[in-house]
Amino acid sequence: MARILVAEKIAEPALQRMRDAGHEVDIQVGLSPEELIEAVVGAQALIIRSATTVTAQVINSGKDLVLVGRAGVGLDNVDVAAATEAGVLVANAPLSNVVSAAEQTLALILATARNLPQAHSALTQGRWERSAWSGVELQGKTLAIVGLGRIGRLVATRAAAFDMRLIGYDPYVTQESAAEAGVELVSLDEIAARADFLTLHVAKTPDTTNLIDAAFLAKAKATLRVINVARGGIVNEADLAEAIASGQIAGAGIDVWETEPTTESPLFALPSVVVAPHLGASTAEAQDKAGDAIADQVLAALSGKPVEFAVNA
Ligand code: MLT
Repeated sequence: MARILVAEKIAEPALQRMRDAGHEVDIQVGLSPEELIEAVVGAQALIIRSATTVTAQVINSGKDLVLVGRAGVGLDNVDVAAATEAGVLVANAPLSNVVSAAEQTLALILATARNLPQAHSALTQGRWERSAWSGVELQGKTLAIVGLGRIGRLVATRAAAFDMRLIGYDPYVTQESAAEAGVELVSLDEIAARADFLTLHVAKTPDTTNLIDAAFLAKAKATLRVINVARGGIVNEADLAEAIASGQIAGAGIDVWETEPTTESPLFALPSVVVAPHLGASTAEAQDKAGDAIADQVLAALSGKPVEFAVNA
């Protein structure tokens, strides 16, 4: 029997599967970094989502750790190099929330195009504001998809159904492969020159941090709306707020933040910005899939079997 430390909310059926396999499922949500370093002592597996940072200190304190399981896609909150060094497997659930993230992207594209949250808010506060919240159609507009991995491609399929023109940027993808997804591969400069909507589907790395900044936004069309369901910090929030406030671009739909959780941003005061508190993967389906996939990884690792989604095996 192993102790599995669960540091964030994970779907109950996945927890039950690990209990049924005879393991102790130790749920400790909301630990501070210091508390996590203590709680991980003696645990064989650690399960997290995006709110927990697994530092080298956490890994080194978890001397019995066999696996860190990330119930989601992004691994920017795990020091994978430190885990590899310590012989600890890191696995994620790369397929679990791709549909939810793509659907959240379309929800934000539509919400920003039609100002739906703002209109809802005005009406429920007793204001009938028809002309204030007039919007734009998606048909015929150019959507730029930065990052043509699983989520970017699901966004492409869905945006094509709205008759949007699709362009994209991804240095790891060929013209042919982009064309198969219905996307014309172009440079970032061309995206700035052509896009009415821009959506990001890349991991946060030193290369993608501040990818969308004042210099990019200065070249963009006045009709541009920026959507970020990927990771905070890929878009520079201060630069984005300034570009929208000055009328340089039209608006934004932002789900992820440079610092999370956050309740303050210069973007919150802008009427053409729609925001959410990192809800891209927050659907019943995605959470079930993420929990299930991570239970598979933990159970495999604890019984010495191959771990399908290990990123550092
Ligand atoms: C992910 O990387 O999987 C998403 O941001 C969702 C999450 O972490 O909960």
